[in-house]
Amino acid sequence: MTTVLVTGGAGYIGSHACKVLAREGYTPVTFDNLSTGWEDAVQFGPFEKGDLTDRARLDEVFATYQPVAVMHFAALSQVGESMNQPGKYWHNNVAGSLTLLEAAVAAGCDKLVFSSTCATYGDQDNVVLDENCDQHPINAYGASKRAIEDMLRDFETAHGLSHVIFRYFNVAGCDPDADVGEYHQPETHLIPLVLDAVAGKRDALTIFGTNYDTPDGTCIRDYVHVMDLVDAHVLGLKWLENGKDSRVFNLGTGTGFSVREVINHSHAVTNREVPVIEGPRRAGDCTKLVSGSTRAEQELGWVAKRSDLKQMIEDAWRWHQTGHYEK
Ligand code: UFG
Repeated sequence: MTTVLVTGGAGYIGSHACKVLAREGYTPVTFDNLSTGWEDAVQFGPFEKGDLTDRARLDEVFATYQPVAVMHFAALSQVGESMNQPGKYWHNNVAGSLTLLEAAVAAGCDKLVFSSTCATYGDQDNVVLDENCDQHPINAYGASKRAIEDMLRDFETAHGLSHVIFRYFNVAGCDPDADVGEYHQPETHLIPLVLDAVAGKRDALTIFGTNYDTPDGTCIRDYVHVMDLVDAHVLGLKWLENGKDSRVFNLGTGTGFSVREVINHSHAVTNREVPVIEGPRRAGDCTKLVSGSTRAEQELGWVAKRSDLKQMIEDAWRWHQTGHYEK
């Protein structure tokens, strides 16, 4: 069986990717330091605990499994935190990725699928966010991801490391079987926080800013289902296995929803009130991030099957109600 090294395989998106990779006949080897991931999310292949900045550990894992490719999910990904502690982001995300790329090249592994983000685009009013759009991140998280994109291009030129870069919009929802799901500690993402408030696990959902230049004053995001997102990763892996050129793809639906719309949909799905507090803006938040590209559909043949907002909240709510959530 073909082995793929999955960094961050114990995390939210990485664990869903491992499930789909295993279903597609690959052996996903999870490499994760468990700083934000969970060992019980590693269910679909071997687990190797380790830190991306630990070159000797990476060399050992590459030598043991000889993966044909890397799916690189491991990263710190909180916009707010990245504004307060940028050094953590440059160290973990950028220095960690550099170590990973060097280890991959040394081991002769020449394919990598990378989790980037629409946060690399920054706040660009009235600009269509497609893959050719300029990248002007307004937070350290986005800046760290843009730096890794640059690093990948240099490593391809010098060492032939072919890669697919996916710029995610807002990932949401969970495995419909609820084998794996979304659990961050602390949680910072909108949908799980709304569901926490609905379930009485927190007093209320604070809306970060109600005076944005949007129809209802709250930020707009393009939500994409995690299962659709990981399907795209498998297509990206096959793209590289077929010898195609390195490529960047946005992963979003092209439809944006405001924070208030997410709250209203959550109310409809759960049939419960969402207690809400209107708070100030959160540093680093863009007004609107909506994908303006269909490149993934056209070139990879990607079809987003579950990325309807109601479906994403239903799947998240199902997971939220399982015992798995109570760590
Ligand atoms: N929000 C609130 N209250 C909260 C949490 C979030 O109002 O308690 C708002 C945010 O201000 C934002 C929206 O809900 O407008 C979504 O916030 P998230 O924290 O769920 O997601 P972000 O847009 O900040 O960031 C996420 C990922 C990043 C990725 C980014 C791309 O965490 O990795 O999407 O938009 F880069």
